[in-house]
Amino acid sequence: MTGTRAYGYTDTLEAEHYGTALRADVGAGLTRTPKSTAPTWFYDARGSELFEEITQLPEYPLWRAELGLLRLHAGDIAARTGARSLVELGSGSSTKTKLIIEALGPTGLHYVPIDVSADALHQAGAQLVQEYPGIRLHALRADFTAPLVLPELPAEGSRIIAFLGSTLGNFLRPARGPFLRGLRDIMRPGDFLLIGADLVKDEQEMIAAYDDVQGVTAEFDKNLLHVLNRELDADFDPDAFDHAAVWNSGESHVEMRLRSRTEQLVKIRELDLAVPFERGEEWITERSAKFTVSGLQQEMAAAGLRTRELWADPDAGFMLTLATAH
Ligand code: AVJ
Repeated sequence: MTGTRAYGYTDTLEAEHYGTALRADVGAGLTRTPKSTAPTWFYDARGSELFEEITQLPEYPLWRAELGLLRLHAGDIAARTGARSLVELGSGSSTKTKLIIEALGPTGLHYVPIDVSADALHQAGAQLVQEYPGIRLHALRADFTAPLVLPELPAEGSRIIAFLGSTLGNFLRPARGPFLRGLRDIMRPGDFLLIGADLVKDEQEMIAAYDDVQGVTAEFDKNLLHVLNRELDADFDPDAFDHAAVWNSGESHVEMRLRSRTEQLVKIRELDLAVPFERGEEWITERSAKFTVSGLQQEMAAAGLRTRELWADPDAGFMLTLATAH
C-alpha cells in the first residue's frame, strides 16, 4: 500500500460519527417500549461476512433475484438512461453494481459509491479502479439518511441514483416519503432513480427468509450483541437471547427480534445504563418492509417520482424500478 489513491474520496462525517450515532440510537432504543434499534449496527466485519452468507441461503432469494434482474436488464437500463454518472447509496461490496457499470461503459463513467464505512469504500474503490482503469471514481463517506450533497459531477449526460437490495425497506413507511423526496430533490431533469424492492409474498416464505434453518440469520442478529459489547462495553450474553422473525401485516414489514430467555439486567457501561429485560421480552432489531408494485409506485409518485420502467421477477417476488423526477 502506498497510501495514494487512484480516485477521489470525500468524507462528510466527523471522525466520531459512528460512536455518536451508535450511542444515541442504542440509548434511545433500549429505553423505549418496545425496545428497537437501527439495523445499521449489524455490519462490522463479522456482520458483513454473515450478510454475504445470508445472500447465498436458499431461504433468502431476494439478493439473487435482484442479481438475476440486473443480469437481464442492465443493458435496458443503459439504453434507457444513457447515463454517464452512477451514484450508489449503501454501495458495500459491488458485485451488482459492476453489471450496471459494464452496461454503461466503465471508461469515463463517473461512479459515486456512498457508504458510512470508510473500509468498505476503500476496498471496493481499490478493486474497481484496478478492474476498470478508465473509471472516474469519487467515493463519498456519508450517511444517506441525512440530506446528501453530491460531489461535483459533469453537467453532460444523465445520472442514475441506485438504491439496491431492498434497503429502502429499512425505512419505516412514514420516513420513506421524506427520504424519497430528498433523493428527488437532488435529481436534475433527465436523471434516474433505480430502486430494488422486495415484494409481499407468502407469509411463511417471508419469515423463513429471516429465520433460516442453518441459523445464519440468527447469528447475524446476535452479532449485534457482540458489536454492543465491544463498542459500548456492554455485557450482553448472546446465549440469553433467541432470534425470531415476525410478519407485521399492518406495517407490511418483517421484524427481526431478539427475545430475552430470562429476566435479566444488562449493563452498558459506555452509556451508564442498566437495561432491564423481562422474560420473553422482544427487542426489534430490524424492520424490512415488503412492497407491492402499485404501493411503491404510489409512494414514489407522492414524492415526485414517476416510474418509467419496471422489471419484476414474479417467482422470487422482487422488482426493479427506474423513475424520473417530475
Ligand atoms: C440489506 C436491509 C436489504 O432487510 O433483507 C437480511 C438485511 N437482514 N437478513 C434485508 C437482512 C436479515 C437486508 N437488507
